[in-house]
Amino acid sequence: MLVLGIDTSCDETAVSVVRDGQEILSNIVASQVIHSKYGGVIPEAAARAHIQAILPITEIALKVANISLRDINLIGVTNGPGLIGSLLCGLSFAKALSFSLNVPFCAVNHLVGHIYSLILEYKNPPLPMIVLLISGGHTELYLLKENLEYELLGQTMDDACGEAFDKVAKMLNKPYPGGPYIEKLAKKGKRNINFPIPVLKNYNFSFSGLKTAVLYYLKENPSYNEYDVAHSFQETVIDYLILALNKASEEFNIKNIGVVGGVAVNERLKERLNLLAQDKNYRIFIPRKELCLDNGAMIACASYYQYQKEGPSDFSVEAFAN
Ligand code: KG4
Ligand code: ZN
Repeated sequence: MLVLGIDTSCDETAVSVVRDGQEILSNIVASQVIHSKYGGVIPEAAARAHIQAILPITEIALKVANISLRDINLIGVTNGPGLIGSLLCGLSFAKALSFSLNVPFCAVNHLVGHIYSLILEYKNPPLPMIVLLISGGHTELYLLKENLEYELLGQTMDDACGEAFDKVAKMLNKPYPGGPYIEKLAKKGKRNINFPIPVLKNYNFSFSGLKTAVLYYLKENPSYNEYDVAHSFQETVIDYLILALNKASEEFNIKNIGVVGGVAVNERLKERLNLLAQDKNYRIFIPRKELCLDNGAMIACASYYQYQKEGPSDFSVEAFAN
């Protein structure tokens, strides 16, 4: 079964072709550079850029997969959560394709797509697994069960983890998205600033206090060292994430840990998780970078499984922001 996976939830136009929910034939992502100078995503500009990119990116995805539109058996598309205008571009495009080709389509939750990046990468990963989703829009902890059902254990009450990276990077005058800049700066820094590790309330995260602590530090120390700020901030975030993982691992007696979403590409996070794994006998699962960042392949994979279970979506299905 050849599945075309489409994700336009935020500022990336992503289209992929995946065979049988497993084999990635193409995975094309057009990142919108227009937002960089504004320090964040401009929703209206994002939607317009999706409209321009969706057709050429789909053509490239088909070409790289060496197939034609007529070979597609199922269309998977993100219908939320995300920016409503952006989502509507992908969803309307998928519906139109589905109608004109007479091929079923499945509307997929973007967060479920991120969880399925683990299935796509590891094929049959050991389950149950504690799954931490850390991206620019979301920070969620799930229990992924043997039957691929999942239970939400907790989520952020304010900023998302990646958003905290982006905002701290902005304070350090770095472009959007700032996560990779923080990681780069942190490599040259030391942990010599004591930012408070936020409190975890029943697996519910909060990043806004830590972000504010960084802001006050910068104001009170105008000649701050940006390397040390980035390093100390990054280590504090990782401490916090590890706190949540340890708590869930202990409570549910599960040693399989999956980490997905854009922040999961952070090398220092991986390094510390590997150390933790040795210490606690965990098995850590982190998909490759292209599958952690927003992509169409994870949506194709998730829609493949959703289709087997629930059948196709109806044309009346709508996009939802949150
Ligand atoms: O999953 P993703 O591509 O999009 C969303 O669904 O949000 O995640 C993007 C987020 C951004 O906040 C970005 O700054 C962060 O992932 N990110 C990183 C790194 N690379 C990307 N955060 C920390 N370290 C990185 N190396
Ligand atoms: Zn995402």
